[in-house]
Amino acid sequence: MNSQRQTQHDFDHDALIIGSGAAGLTLALNLAERARVAVLSKVEVTEGSTYYAQGGISAVLAESDSVESHIRDTLVAGAGLCDERAVRFTVENGRAAVEWLREMGVPFSLEEAGSSDNALGLHLTREGGHSHRRVAHADDATGRAIETTLVGQARRHPGITLYEGHVAVDLITVDDRGEKRCVGAYVLDRETLRVEVFRARVVVLATGGASKVYLYTSNPDISTGDGVAMAWRAGCRIANMEFMQFHPTCLYHPRAKSFLITEAVRGEGGRLLLPDGERFMPRFDERAELAPRDIVARAIDHEMKRLGIDNVYLDISHKPTDFILRHFPTVHARCLEFGFDMTREPLPVVPAAHYTCGGVMTDLNARTDLAGLYAIGEAACTGLHGANRMASNSLLECLVFAKAAAEDIAPRLTQAWEPPQVSPWDASQVTDSDEQVVVTHNWDELRRFMWDYVGIVRTTKRLQRAMHRVELLKHEIFEYYANFTVTPDLLELRNLVLVAELIIQSALARKESRGLHYTRDYPEPDPALAGKSTILAPGGRSPRTPITILHSE
Ligand code: FAD
Ligand code: SIN
Repeated sequence: MNSQRQTQHDFDHDALIIGSGAAGLTLALNLAERARVAVLSKVEVTEGSTYYAQGGISAVLAESDSVESHIRDTLVAGAGLCDERAVRFTVENGRAAVEWLREMGVPFSLEEAGSSDNALGLHLTREGGHSHRRVAHADDATGRAIETTLVGQARRHPGITLYEGHVAVDLITVDDRGEKRCVGAYVLDRETLRVEVFRARVVVLATGGASKVYLYTSNPDISTGDGVAMAWRAGCRIANMEFMQFHPTCLYHPRAKSFLITEAVRGEGGRLLLPDGERFMPRFDERAELAPRDIVARAIDHEMKRLGIDNVYLDISHKPTDFILRHFPTVHARCLEFGFDMTREPLPVVPAAHYTCGGVMTDLNARTDLAGLYAIGEAACTGLHGANRMASNSLLECLVFAKAAAEDIAPRLTQAWEPPQVSPWDASQVTDSDEQVVVTHNWDELRRFMWDYVGIVRTTKRLQRAMHRVELLKHEIFEYYANFTVTPDLLELRNLVLVAELIIQSALARKESRGLHYTRDYPEPDPALAGKSTILAPGGRSPRTPITILHSE
């Protein structure tokens, strides 16, 4: 029996924003005075990486800090691959982004009266790669404060309609006077199981990252790279997918689901230790625990493999208890649930997949290759992060590029143009699956071999093995997709397998080690590749057509 009913009606909006994290909601709130905006979320509106962000948002706020210093630190962390224009643009707009969040009502932590070195009176913390204190935060639950504040504002705004439990399946494109244009998306409503047509004059991908492609990740379940996969299928270029960031310190406990221990713990004096108590980071980098993330994660991975241990330890118990409780109430409470008291003992930690530096290629206005389609937030590759994102630059990028997109989109909406009628979703050829195990099995297999073969340390042989497996899985999953009614799990798996392929292709193409991409076969950076991104361009109509790989300035 086929439970996937045909589309009954269209939903029309000026702007369709796919994603309700910091990026999507910032755009919606900046656009809604001037447009009818729809915001989709796959599950509940607050569920996304934004909600779980701990450390904070970076911006030049302290008197002693400077824009040039933030730019320099970002370029150093990015290992010679950042687009300097994107870095400058982001950093110069950082202060305004934090001020806007405060206006929206985000309760940032304040410095004690009289001791602040910034006009806003905020407490600024420090994280890896930053040469100054420049991370504004709301205790150690900054993302929760930002997400719940923005959701509250969006719910109250008459110009914004939130569609929870609506999963975008694919973008809809038409030929508009010789130009390919995005005019909406097919969207699965989890409740009715209908695939509806959402038409819009402008579509924005704000779908977050793809870290769920790995077995162990700090990310929530929604991070399945849907935006990257949809953009790729629609013909957009995707860049720098080999640079998947692993956060060095997630709690090691079978039930903790890689709960993040914020980098701010190291920023405030936390030390990384081996089981015998040796502090090992100074052996790897003079910045020790505050070296950029790629270096710290690799050092931990190296020590774990060298000693055959399951985890290392993060210790801040030498700091006064009230200091720890004041700065890290959320982390402290969560670790206690698993039996660890960070005020008295070191925490067992391991690295886990955390952030997707690559994504849908955009310009400084967040425009993609496809007319009518924008990408913002973690789904996008703006050039800011290069080969390694610096801590707390991500929320900043969400805010700055969402604002830029709003400014670019608003004037376009005054032009008279209505999206054309498009074909409804056709579910007449498919049936309901009686073999759900195919989805769960392939989901597990994919994430495990990505972890084993395409993780922190790579080799060409491992990448080739992974590519071989991904090709088999892709074939099986696409065939399954063609024959059975779509479910949220199947849609995510279809996207993950594609994203995995893009990551492996990119990693194989980069014959050097740089930033987050480390391969034993080419252990040094190649000076000839400095400043060159890995750009994947769709080769044709079929998802199986070969991919073109270019390096460009
Ligand atoms: P998200 O917040 O991930 O939101 C994605 C949205 O897209 C969700 O609403 C989801 O439902 C929706 N979506 C996805 N696919 C579909 C689909 N097919 N159809 C419909 N909707 C869809 N960065 C910092 O700068 N500072 C930090 O302190 C920090 N801490 C972090 C801690 C953790 C544990 C994690 C996981 C990340 C952290 N990061 C931090 C990174 C940062 O939080 C994210 O990069 C950022 O929040 C991404 O925001 P976003 O709006 O792009 O996506
Ligand atoms: C953290 O708090 O360690 C995460 C910061 C980030 O990912 O930017």
